[in-house]
Amino acid sequence: MSSHSDPGRMADATAWTPRTTPLVPPVYHAVTYGLDDKSYDDITAGGLNETWYGRFSNPTVMAAAEPIRRLEGTGATLLTASGMAAISTTLLTLLQAGDRVVAARAVYGDTRDLLNRDLPRFGITVDLVDGDDLDSWREALAAGPVALAYGETLANPTLALLDIAAVAGLAHAAGARLVVDNTFATPFAVRPAELGADVVVESATKFLSGHSDLIAGAVSSDVDTIREVQRRLVTFGGCLDPAAAYLLWRGLQTFEVRLLRQTSSAARLADAVAGRDDVVRVVHPGRPDHPQHELAAAMMPRGTAMLTVEVAGGDRRALAVLRELRLFTEATSLGGVESLASTPFNSSHFSLSAADRAAAGIGPGTLRLSVGLEDPDALLADLTAALDATGGGPGWR
Ligand SMILES: Cc1ncc(COP(=O)(O)O)c(C=O)c1O
Repeated sequence: MSSHSDPGRMADATAWTPRTTPLVPPVYHAVTYGLDDKSYDDITAGGLNETWYGRFSNPTVMAAAEPIRRLEGTGATLLTASGMAAISTTLLTLLQAGDRVVAARAVYGDTRDLLNRDLPRFGITVDLVDGDDLDSWREALAAGPVALAYGETLANPTLALLDIAAVAGLAHAAGARLVVDNTFATPFAVRPAELGADVVVESATKFLSGHSDLIAGAVSSDVDTIREVQRRLVTFGGCLDPAAAYLLWRGLQTFEVRLLRQTSSAARLADAVAGRDDVVRVVHPGRPDHPQHELAAAMMPRGTAMLTVEVAGGDRRALAVLRELRLFTEATSLGGVESLASTPFNSSHFSLSAADRAAAGIGPGTLRLSVGLEDPDALLADLTAALDATGGGPGWR
């Protein structure tokens, strides 16, 4: 009869291990692993691929990290419990008291809070710049010693591009490392590390997983930097759960085909509503009227599934449009198979004042659309009907 003290327990636990190769990674719920006569020194020397305790590493989590590492083209990728865990752990690994950060003003709202409210509590100063203005970067980076530059490939929700190669050059010349959030653009469109970014962070909650059913983050960089970040992840505790890692792995299997369809539908919607009288502007990097169209064509020719529409009539009309939409769901987040619509003033950027939103390029009437996998004709009909029903037609501009 076996008991919890049965010396054959490990043998029992592995007796069912399949003799053939599974096509999908098993979900390893195990928190701890037999040491197999190794010492802790052996295991920690083994680095990123050793499994011994779940907060340090997990085989399912490692399986999900590998496709992202390949997509981003970096030496290593570390998964975290959320995109914010990826960003905060990275910044708190690379920075220390007394350091200065230069960051783009238009970044995800919670990242802005981390930069403006949390980092200063630890003696780190943060100077904000217009992310799409190289002179602004140049000036701020030259203003004094600087440890780190931070921006998003495609800003949320302004869809302003970060000229990664140029900013990396400026940051490196100033002695700073460049960290880029690639959540909106995704490695389908841009590989920031190939353009000179030192670390790529992203919310895997969005396009990478693609089904709005998990929260996860990723940090990609060279092996030494990822080891440093991993050491802090162990002490800060933001490790990814293996069940979420499995769903992320599964979502990644369809990443490329999802993005092909989603980016093509978004470009179609952008072109179709851009000429309307009741639309102030459509912001989409694929359009020739995007202020950085040339950079977009060179840096991310495969486009984006994100689309920003500034409707005439301000935030009140934007909300009215949201309420009329039937196929787009009014919800925060992005990057899933379902199309989502939101007003940043009422979701991702609610914590900013109207003045700060305006300074970040988010005008009244801004609608953010994340285009999903639905029939593009039906999506266009839905958006058109919602604009028409809320007073569309001549005279709005
Ligand atoms: C650009 C960007 N970065 C980071 C995050 C944070 O990701 P998570 O919600 O997975 O923590 C978000 C979330 O919306 C985002 O849009």
